[in-house]
Amino acid sequence: MVKKQESGLMEKIVSLCKRRGFVFAGSEIYGGLANSWDYGPLGVELKNSIKKLWWQKFVVERDDMVGMDGAVILNPKVWEASGHTGAGFADLMIECKKCHSRFRADHLGFVDEKGNIVSREDISCPECGKEDWTEPKQFNLMFKTNIGPTEEKTNMAYLRPETAQAMFVNFKNILDTTRKTLPFGMAQIGKAFRNEITPGNFIFRTREFEQMEIEYFIEEPNSDKDWQKHFEYWVKQTKDWMELIGINLKKVDAFEVPDNERAHYSKRTVDFMYEFPFGKKELYGLAYRTDFDLKNHEKFSGQNLKYKDQETGKEFWPHVIEPSFGVERSFLAILCEAYQEDPSATLGASRVYLKLKPYLAPYQAAVFPLLANKPQLVAKAREVYDSLKNRNSSFSIHNSFNVAWDERGNIGKRYYSQDEIGTPYCVTIDFDTLENNTVTVRDRDTAKQVRVLVPELKDFLTKKIYS
Ligand code: GAP
Repeated sequence: MVKKQESGLMEKIVSLCKRRGFVFAGSEIYGGLANSWDYGPLGVELKNSIKKLWWQKFVVERDDMVGMDGAVILNPKVWEASGHTGAGFADLMIECKKCHSRFRADHLGFVDEKGNIVSREDISCPECGKEDWTEPKQFNLMFKTNIGPTEEKTNMAYLRPETAQAMFVNFKNILDTTRKTLPFGMAQIGKAFRNEITPGNFIFRTREFEQMEIEYFIEEPNSDKDWQKHFEYWVKQTKDWMELIGINLKKVDAFEVPDNERAHYSKRTVDFMYEFPFGKKELYGLAYRTDFDLKNHEKFSGQNLKYKDQETGKEFWPHVIEPSFGVERSFLAILCEAYQEDPSATLGASRVYLKLKPYLAPYQAAVFPLLANKPQLVAKAREVYDSLKNRNSSFSIHNSFNVAWDERGNIGKRYYSQDEIGTPYCVTIDFDTLENNTVTVRDRDTAKQVRVLVPELKDFLTKKIYS
């Protein structure tokens, strides 16, 4: 029987990530840097697959979407216009007077449901247990930097805290160059930076992370119904995406964020809360940003950012629905869903395998010669390996798999090793291959094996991986 072990799941995932080269602690040889993480050879493959699939679904396959890639450091006025330099993008922070640990005031209960600060004597510091606090104060989450060789107020800039703003800032450029008509969307994938007060839970909340964001521009609504229909459409799209990457929707709640908790720009926000092992937490967000951003950028830049309807000649600021997806939170939720233990396994310990969607796995297949000391087997296995990697084709960018090669140890251990990193299919070249040109293809999830003719192998795997 295959069991999902919820207890200790996070520890097991963190350990597997490090052991197999998915995620390493950042700057490890210098003792690390708190809450920073580096992605190793397998981690970067999984991350790239997530981003590639997202781009495919939301840009390549659609006529109403265009992509862009904006700068990380923008003119500081952008952040004034967007409201990020104000209280809207600050967290209330509170400090323990004894141990000087800092916390978000709302996380400890110093803020009531209406967002008001409440003074309380009875809350102890989670670090040292003392009940002696400073007054809560606003802390802006943007990272500051300086442009040029001197550190002056006049050349101060920020690292972007969301990818969204580059899309608003380029609204006119994109409109002029693509001639898109409403409704249409822009998509962007890139790094964002926030000086979070309480990062943690592995890669869940970090100070440097990647976002995949869409700004979907719609007509100026005449009634709430007009924007609600687009909003509901993007609720459905977000859910479809979650299913595509293997998230069990039973573990996701669409939480309507109440007025007092919504970001300053939003008239409606739904947070998609996923049941992580450490609690139900935001995986993705969906917000109706109204015309807040374009209107403000017009005000601050003095440039006309209105859309002109070609038929009626009417000019207006389009309204915006914004689905926002975190790459690292996708990565973590995918691993939480995929981690499986099979205690009925035969190699002593439980068989651990990642039941990743085959198209997301770091390797789609692994190729093994049954015995590493039989040159004929190795040569044939190399031939199969090269053909799956499209080594001998000039069109190798298309239709090639990520394929692993392993000839170490016994075959059972090689299977287990690939299972643990989520490789969906292992192809073994044995003595029968030399006789009848067939190979064994073993399925990660069932451990069942079938024999497939070498000339049919690529089509066989393609169908399995992509259907
Ligand atoms: N442009 C809207 C925006 O940035 P957000 O809810 O602040 O909205 C969107 O962020 C998504 O970015 C979140 O749902 C989450 O997936 C990801 N995210 C936000 N802060 C993060 C952090 N500190 N670490 C990792 N991911 C984060």
